[in-house]
Amino acid sequence: MLHIILLDCALEFVPSEISSMKQVQKHAFRRGKKPTELLLDQTHHGRAMTKLSESERRGRPDITFLSLMSILETPLCKEGLLNVFLHLQDGRIIEVRSDVRLPRNYERFVGLMEQLLLTGRVPPKGDALLHVIDKSLGDLVKDLNAEQTILAIEGGQKTTIHDLTESLPTDTSVPIIVGVGAFPHGDLPDSTTSLFEHKLEFDKDVMMAWHVCAELLWAYSSRVGVVKTRYSVI
Ligand SMILES: C[S@@+](CC[C@H](N)C(=O)[O-])C[C@H]1O[C@@H](n2cnc3c(N)ncnc32)[C@H](O)[C@@H]1O
Repeated sequence: MLHIILLDCALEFVPSEISSMKQVQKHAFRRGKKPTELLLDQTHHGRAMTKLSESERRGRPDITFLSLMSILETPLCKEGLLNVFLHLQDGRIIEVRSDVRLPRNYERFVGLMEQLLLTGRVPPKGDALLHVIDKSLGDLVKDLNAEQTILAIEGGQKTTIHDLTESLPTDTSVPIIVGVGAFPHGDLPDSTTSLFEHKLEFDKDVMMAWHVCAELLWAYSSRVGVVKTRYSVI
């Protein structure tokens, strides 16, 4: 089982300290929402965001969106061999059901995430497809009881896709965790990096989070022979 944790996702509501700024007010009016119930987005709030601390790490929900698009609905998901968690910058953890079909349209994804942050779950009633769980990142990593914990990180041990694939378990009953940062710039805090045993780099340049997710997912899928298994049962 592969558990992917998207770390420090740049996914939050507009903070109250910039909610009265003209750029934010105009956007809220256009969307017909309260300013503090809009997802913070560099595209719409870039000027206002210069007033925020650590603004370079924030306001990029599209990174989570594109990462989820590259992870979900893959053969690995369809075989029930993948779990996805979102770790937000305020420490909250969201569990994403692996059979969720998210909107392909970014604006609709934003609406869904706003509902999730407001109510803690989506949909508001019935079986949750995404919901906030009452755990810290440290507890989550501990509770998943993984045999291997891998953090994708620039400056980690240089690793080719072949070496990565060979290092993964072939047995799907062995849980492994991979962490990928879902923020635009800056570094992960030591409190996060220290939770992972193996720190691996997959290219000499900075990669897009969704490319890293895809590389990990397909390396694991190939290692456990998921596509071969799917063909053998038809
Ligand atoms: C765009 S990076 C985030 C921050 C990055 N320090 C920057 O300045 O752009 C998103 C994430 O992708 C992963 N990543 C990016 N480049 C990588 C690489 N060359 N090897 C392994 N993981 C990488 C890391 O998990 C990183 O947190």
